[in-house]
Amino acid sequence: MIPPQTIDQIKSTVKIEEVIDEYVNLKRRGVNMIGLCPFHNEKTPSFTVSPSKNLYKCFGCGKGGDAVNFIMEHEHLSYPEALRHLAQRYGIEIEEVKKDDSQIREKQERQSLMLINDYAKDFFIDQLFNTDEGRSIGLSYFKHRGLIESTINTFELGYSPRGRTYFKDKALKAGYSEEKLKTLGLISQSGYDFYRERVIFPFHNLSGKVIGFGGRILSDKIKTAKYLNSPESEIYNKRKTLYGLFQSKTDIRRQDQCVLVEGYTDVLSLYQNGVKNVVASSGTSLTQEQVRLIKRFTLNVLVIYDGDQAGQNAALRGMDIFLENNLNAKVVVLPDNADPDSYIREVGAQAFKDFIEENSQDFILRIANNIQRTLSHDPVNKSIQIKELVKSIAKIGDQLKRSLYIKECTDILDLTEASLIKEVNRAVKGEINSKMKYQERPQYDDVNYANRQVSEEPTQTVGVKIDNEQYQERDIVRALLHHAEKICPTEEDISGVDYAFSLLGEHYDHFINETYRNILSEYAKALENGQILSSQHFTSHRDESVRRLSVDLLSDPNSYANWSDRGVELQTQKPIDENHEKDIYQAVMRYFLRFYKNQDKIWRERIISCSEEDRIVYLTAYKKFKDEVREHAVKLNAVLL
Ligand code: CTP
Ligand code: MN
Repeated sequence: MIPPQTIDQIKSTVKIEEVIDEYVNLKRRGVNMIGLCPFHNEKTPSFTVSPSKNLYKCFGCGKGGDAVNFIMEHEHLSYPEALRHLAQRYGIEIEEVKKDDSQIREKQERQSLMLINDYAKDFFIDQLFNTDEGRSIGLSYFKHRGLIESTINTFELGYSPRGRTYFKDKALKAGYSEEKLKTLGLISQSGYDFYRERVIFPFHNLSGKVIGFGGRILSDKIKTAKYLNSPESEIYNKRKTLYGLFQSKTDIRRQDQCVLVEGYTDVLSLYQNGVKNVVASSGTSLTQEQVRLIKRFTLNVLVIYDGDQAGQNAALRGMDIFLENNLNAKVVVLPDNADPDSYIREVGAQAFKDFIEENSQDFILRIANNIQRTLSHDPVNKSIQIKELVKSIAKIGDQLKRSLYIKECTDILDLTEASLIKEVNRAVKGEINSKMKYQERPQYDDVNYANRQVSEEPTQTVGVKIDNEQYQERDIVRALLHHAEKICPTEEDISGVDYAFSLLGEHYDHFINETYRNILSEYAKALENGQILSSQHFTSHRDESVRRLSVDLLSDPNSYANWSDRGVELQTQKPIDENHEKDIYQAVMRYFLRFYKNQDKIWRERIISCSEEDRIVYLTAYKKFKDEVREHAVKLNAVLL
């Protein structure tokens, strides 16, 4: 584990412009630097780096963060991996916090299992290329299936010979324990080589380490399982693995699309033919974990399923997972009985790509079309199917996207838009209710928050949605992120954050929005300890929603792009960076204004609807409330002007 002081040291040493300059050609523009965004395709630069704020932000695709986030995003690294990467670049030594014994043992166990797999992989490769049996049976099988040597090498394919204990004997001699070989499934419980006379497909994790194997039988005539796969182990979890992702991840990112197929051989065949952004879910139907893995690289998925009925059914099952995760999913179904491998070899790479291009269809629209085509004369069945479709549409988180789908589906299905909207709304409500049941409110432990050590990736959270009620709360957060550390000269030279709390007191406890409330309470806690949290603390926060929010607030075009950069000299109003005291003041006062207005409304309603005997009590309390408001009124009115 990386100790928190070292994380601070890394973050304060790293210069964002230096880090990004290695990947993006940056040009100075005023106090900022700009370049072409590495995360999406653009012709005019909207990718902005602010050395003073240690931030980057792309105004085209919305990506943004600090140097650590940049490295995570660009190099596909986890949070601790990115920190290590930067530490190395700047020669900062990481003195690992000593883990307790069980953690050390666990890590050693994992490492030793990987080591054995690595040994086995090399063994299978050696067998494939350097033995008579391997060449005449294994290699000729691959060649017969059209695979060339570079593909075989890229995917580290191999061959396991027919001898009953050939691998086992060698591995034991090399010093590996029989027990571990069994754990990994390399030898069977009864002590024989597991993959005898099979070609071998290793599975890699994202850093290219071998975590498991699949072994294919060579003749389809033999009546036994076509594939044998590694059992799950401490290093292999099939729900979290996508075959080919290690090899394809760069192309997935580059093309901003992931092609999903069913089989190992489909991956190999497409990859070799230039469709390199391809992965397979390998035997299992697609899992949530696999979808989240894809999401680290792209939001666009193209599913190519076999033309048979099983393939089509699998396609439909995958759909809801895509929708729930807000992925844009398209589907192509190949002509009868073809699978991607056989089809691309039959028609060639170009024709294959053309077919995909012409026939890929949006998931939902495809289903709508299907319903209309096959069931237009069967109203009962049709309405059942439409209800199913509606459930799927309801899973789409993005409201705009949802309404676009509704519009298109009403056209296809010959319905009125209103009727479909009603159905979808009902289903959305059901969806929300069922989520509320099992999703607890996320725990936000702000005492230990800032000091928490890093041992895993930051959690994924959806972006924060604001409504009007919360705008004022958000604006206080914005003011603090910008000005917390600045000195307020007319207020006895206290810091911006001191000043804000002198006005706001503990009112942040009433904040409706949890994220804003938590940010404020982090500021408050730190202040009690005499610390002023920098904006960087929040832009590299563990909680992704905090990080996103602070990057967004700091990169608001009106404050971020320095006014003078644009050649605009403001006469009447200073830019907020030079006017921070007033900015803080107004943010807090606007909040109070809103707050009192709401309270007033609540009081009035209460007084109207309460019983006669309660009324007098409420009226007294209301009067007290009004007095408090009046005390503030002078200040508040100033804001209104
Ligand atoms: N699969 C498996 N075990 C089996 C059969 C299938 O794990 N007994 C998984 C494999 O990941 C396989 C995928 O399901 O790649 C798809 O199965 P299939 O289409 O039969 O395999 P292909 O990879 O297309 O194999 P081939 O073309 O060599 O027949
Ligand atoms: Mn196949």
